[in-house]
Amino acid sequence: MTQNAPGPQPTGSTTGFGMPNASDRNSLSLGSNGPLLLHDVRLVETLAHFNRERVPERNPHAKGAGAFGTFTTTEDVSRYTKAALFQPGAKTEMLARFSTVAGEQGSPDTWRDVRGFSLKFYTSEGNYDLVGNNTPVFFLRDPMKFPHFIRSQKRLPGSGLRDNTMQWDFWTQNPESAHQVTYLMGVRGLPRTWRHMNGYGSHTYMWVNAQGERFWVKYHFHTDQGMEFLSNEEAEALAGSDADYHRRDLYEAIERGENPSWTLSVQVMPYADAKTYRFNPFDLTKVWPHADYPLIKVGTMELNRNPQNFFAEIEQAAFAPSNTVPGIGVSPDKMLLGRVFSYADAQRARIGTNYHQLPVNRPIVETNDYLIDGNMTFTHSGTAPVYAPNSYGRPYADQTGPVEDGWEADGDMVRSAYALHSEDDDFGQAGTLVREVFDDAQREQLVRTVTGSLLGGVQEPVLSNAFQYWKNVDQSIGERIEAAYWAGKGDEHVGGDPLAPTTDAQLDSARA
Ligand code: HEM
Repeated sequence: MTQNAPGPQPTGSTTGFGMPNASDRNSLSLGSNGPLLLHDVRLVETLAHFNRERVPERNPHAKGAGAFGTFTTTEDVSRYTKAALFQPGAKTEMLARFSTVAGEQGSPDTWRDVRGFSLKFYTSEGNYDLVGNNTPVFFLRDPMKFPHFIRSQKRLPGSGLRDNTMQWDFWTQNPESAHQVTYLMGVRGLPRTWRHMNGYGSHTYMWVNAQGERFWVKYHFHTDQGMEFLSNEEAEALAGSDADYHRRDLYEAIERGENPSWTLSVQVMPYADAKTYRFNPFDLTKVWPHADYPLIKVGTMELNRNPQNFFAEIEQAAFAPSNTVPGIGVSPDKMLLGRVFSYADAQRARIGTNYHQLPVNRPIVETNDYLIDGNMTFTHSGTAPVYAPNSYGRPYADQTGPVEDGWEADGDMVRSAYALHSEDDDFGQAGTLVREVFDDAQREQLVRTVTGSLLGGVQEPVLSNAFQYWKNVDQSIGERIEAAYWAGKGDEHVGGDPLAPTTDAQLDSARA
């Protein structure tokens, strides 16, 4: 049914152009037994439109769902950012989408995987998107590697099967993945529901205040429901019995009026600290210990409204790290800079050139975008000039000089890894996670998770490389994984009991 349709409502159905249909049940045929007639407009329209009902699924993060809500800034962080949505008392309508990374649209929600945590804020200064995960770090620190990474976690080119050897080959060939892999194989790699997991911006972003001062920030959304996890056995059983377990949980909780909420805090690093901090603050495989940069509370996000239409409002939703607002910028994190290109490009291909005009994606503010024509143009600028500058009064932007959310850079053009800071390496923070954050039960769970289903079927030389990878994280955990693997021959799917949550306080004190 067309929303806001003027005039009388149809008594039966109509074509897409509003003419009454004779029937949605019987095709027009020559006699009761056919043949069918090509001028049965309704039949042709129905079959032709059906052939075009799907858009390509996201590559990656295809399986997910989401809900609308409100973000309320409860604290005063105006000394760090002038962004309107983060001014005291501001309330901003928003959309959240949660997802898994590697699985396809129909894949189970409960496979062990990183979870996406995408947010779109419809602010008074345009849309602000924060496209994060439920982990504070990532597998990589150069965007060149991202497509290789995703392909290694999906399916073999020949058989179309998922493959542990390919996954571990990628991880062991790229040791900067160790921190994220340890996180993923730990208890937090299987959240009980999306409501019971934290979200992180993961990257370092820039905040700019009204005086033009710049800060580096990391976002932390802590679940107010408390963190809860699934055991391997529970997750495996659910994957078979209810592939939509997490999607269903979020939808039904909101229908019951149990609106989930998260508290947003940020870590703020003074601009000048970045050069000398002991870890490269733009390296996405690293956290900033909270003892160095404590959490500063900002506000609360509550999800309170389910989508009315999954396809229109969730499948067509387009989240992109390139959507920033005044007072918030990106940073020299190479991964983030790669993503700033990648998402809008993916969405033009996945949804269509004018995807920004769709209700779920369009901002609540007036636009003057000089994005002219293209497939499915819906909003337009009438007869106004289509070029800038122009002599006929259509405004255009014309700032020159330094940008307020920029940073300094110099040097020759090179292809190179980041320059190392004093405590930078690939395995250090992963080792801290194993030794000082996980307790005995969680270390045991890590050994069982890795040796259970995940190393099953892994071929040499990748298997030996995987043992060495874990010894590099922590000698003792690596030896335990190797011994447990050979004891069980790696062919058992070993489960485990749900374990006590790892609190952020534990993470903080352990990493101090
Ligand atoms: C250079 C690295 C990366 C590239 C090139 C990349 C690319 C992409 C692309 C093309 C999509 C599909 C977008 C769409 O079709 O709408 C996507 C989805 C997504 N990515 Fe990334 N990604 C990268 C790294 C990351 C990182 C580091 C995070 C989290 C910190 C992340 C979180 C997400 C999430 C949550 C989604 C799903 C968005 C949604 O809910 O619609 N990605 N990514």
